[in-house]
Amino acid sequence: MNENPKTTNIDTPSDELEWREGDMPYSTGFGDYYYSKSDGRLECDHVFIDGNALKNRFTHAGRIVIGELGFGTGLNFLETLRQFNEFAHEDAQLEFHSFEINPLAPSVIKKALTVWPELTQELDLMLASWPNALTQDNELNIDDRVKLHLHIGDVNERLPKQFFQADAWYLDGFAPARNESMWSLELMQEIANHTKDHGTFSSYTAAGWVRRNLIEAGFEVRKTNGYAGKRDMICGVKIPTEVD
Ligand SMILES: C[S@@+](CC[C@H](N)C(=O)[O-])C[C@H]1O[C@@H](n2cnc3c(N)ncnc32)[C@H](O)[C@@H]1O
Repeated sequence: MNENPKTTNIDTPSDELEWREGDMPYSTGFGDYYYSKSDGRLECDHVFIDGNALKNRFTHAGRIVIGELGFGTGLNFLETLRQFNEFAHEDAQLEFHSFEINPLAPSVIKKALTVWPELTQELDLMLASWPNALTQDNELNIDDRVKLHLHIGDVNERLPKQFFQADAWYLDGFAPARNESMWSLELMQEIANHTKDHGTFSSYTAAGWVRRNLIEAGFEVRKTNGYAGKRDMICGVKIPTEVD
């Protein structure tokens, strides 16, 4: 029996998702929310889109490749898609790679994201191209300019098998203390291996050991103001490797 009237258990593949305060997805496995309780869409705009200066980068022709740790509900992808459609050059393309160990069912994604009417069109587009059954590597053709690559499984195992080079990364695992394998030095090195020279990253966390791992992996790391009362977040650039 559910003792907490504000909390409803629902059946997800891992059975580890609860709805808190009505429409906030919360992982009982990791003990964390999927996004800011304040406003996940505005958090994405501040931390990931502005943290990687994407509004400006979208205005250039050509392909922009974005990688993400933790697809979750797809909120970051959909807000990125919305802003890409708003700002992008007519000859720009978006290739978005996201990694997820515990994919949520489309009905769960829909329940989480219908609170943002701004994303209705993007959500419908994504769900219309959602595969009947997910495999390890899924390619969703959102429209003729945008592709979503959804890589299912532990990112530590899936990322080394990929060949893309990202222009920008969204580091969006659960809180570092509760999801250590999403922030390890080995994974940050793998992120660096999959980032173009001068490519960027951003994250909502400014945890000291995460910063140190990113620096050791070859990124220049900068602290900046966090979203909704959080003092700090981080963003940075991959320092090009010198060749003699
Ligand atoms: C903070 S949530 C991401 C929220 C998401 N970006 C969104 O827009 O809803 C973190 C996500 O990372 C996933 N995750 C945790 N550990 C992982 C791992 N080792 N490999 C891949 N995904 C992982 C979780 O299942 C969860 O969906």
